[in-house]
Amino acid sequence: MEKKKIKEGIYWVGAVDWDRRLFDALIPLPDGTSYNAYLVKGSKKTALFDTVDPTKTDMLLSTLAGVDEIDYIISHHAEQDHSGSIPQVLERYKNAKVVTSPKGRELLLDLLKIPAESIITVADGETLSLGDKTIEVIYTPWVHWPETFSTYIREDKVLFSCDLFGSHLSFSGVFVEDEEKACEAAKRYYAEVMMPFRNIIRKHMDRLEKYDIDIIAPSHGPVHKNAEGIMKSHAKWISEDLANNAVIVYASMHGSTEAMVNHLTDALSQRGVNVERFNTSVMDSGKFAMSLVDAATLIFGSPTVLTGAHPNVIAAAFLANALKPKVRFASIIGSQGWGGKVVEQITSTIGTLKVEMLAPVLAKGMPKENDLKALENLAEEIAKRHKESKLL
Ligand code: FEO
Repeated sequence: MEKKKIKEGIYWVGAVDWDRRLFDALIPLPDGTSYNAYLVKGSKKTALFDTVDPTKTDMLLSTLAGVDEIDYIISHHAEQDHSGSIPQVLERYKNAKVVTSPKGRELLLDLLKIPAESIITVADGETLSLGDKTIEVIYTPWVHWPETFSTYIREDKVLFSCDLFGSHLSFSGVFVEDEEKACEAAKRYYAEVMMPFRNIIRKHMDRLEKYDIDIIAPSHGPVHKNAEGIMKSHAKWISEDLANNAVIVYASMHGSTEAMVNHLTDALSQRGVNVERFNTSVMDSGKFAMSLVDAATLIFGSPTVLTGAHPNVIAAAFLANALKPKVRFASIIGSQGWGGKVVEQITSTIGTLKVEMLAPVLAKGMPKENDLKALENLAEEIAKRHKESKLL
């Protein structure tokens, strides 16, 4: 690919992966992704900021074809989508030093075949000079691994934020062109990858606010010229603000649980609560994650399968538990034939969520009059909680 200029002496040299559809064997990528590497040329030295996924090494090496010398390879994050091509880059640029945090050093040695003597470590706040460009190291652990750090080029006011402020989005230019589309992709990325670290991100953002940032160059997706805009969006997502939304995630085998979900959807809607529904058989788990960014209530709907909850619903509950959304109320509904452990299984799967569990509604077979009434009571309870939380 061609180098793409970000600022004088700063170029994007990464790889766009238009066709990738799954990340970490888990995260759907409807819009592909990019692995952003940047070449920064100072008056005395040259640094490569990260590399690319190992599947795109050839692309990176070809883009760097005219570059004779690289002094530093800044490895912000040891995950292989950014570090995976370091061995091949080192083969070509034998004098280059890999710059990372002490934790990053451990991980790089564990994950990649890199000679230990090629690695130098930097402390939080330390600077590296390229001559007329100064790289400042800003430790930002847990966005998204414990070793991760960001860097800031003082003279150019460019923040290299690594996974933070990133998005899984392919692009032909290099800067964000469609703010709305970019924000939607960034929200999906936040929901899928960053949401569990909400409180840590708040601390990082408090610190980053003190920097004069002109451009944010993340490790995935297009580069942000509107640094303030993407930071404001993240500030909203990590805030304690909730929306008047109830998310219903469910499976239904013969229609009974779906009939209950339908009735609850109508009952909530009649009481002014917005509903987002996800049928686990066909859902995009990224959209489910996005719905959890600010939903106040989460409802699981499950039939009973082999005496327990439907495996798809358990998987959704496991994902919600791992993502640690700020959801405040939860409940379980579903249909059963002769009893089972649906409620116990789902409740124990979401143990890390700080939610008030509202009384479950379980029907035998198809929901009867009394079951429908119980669903209306549940909707009433949810609407009451939303009103008390000043969401409705
Ligand atoms: Fe894009 Fe956490 O790696």
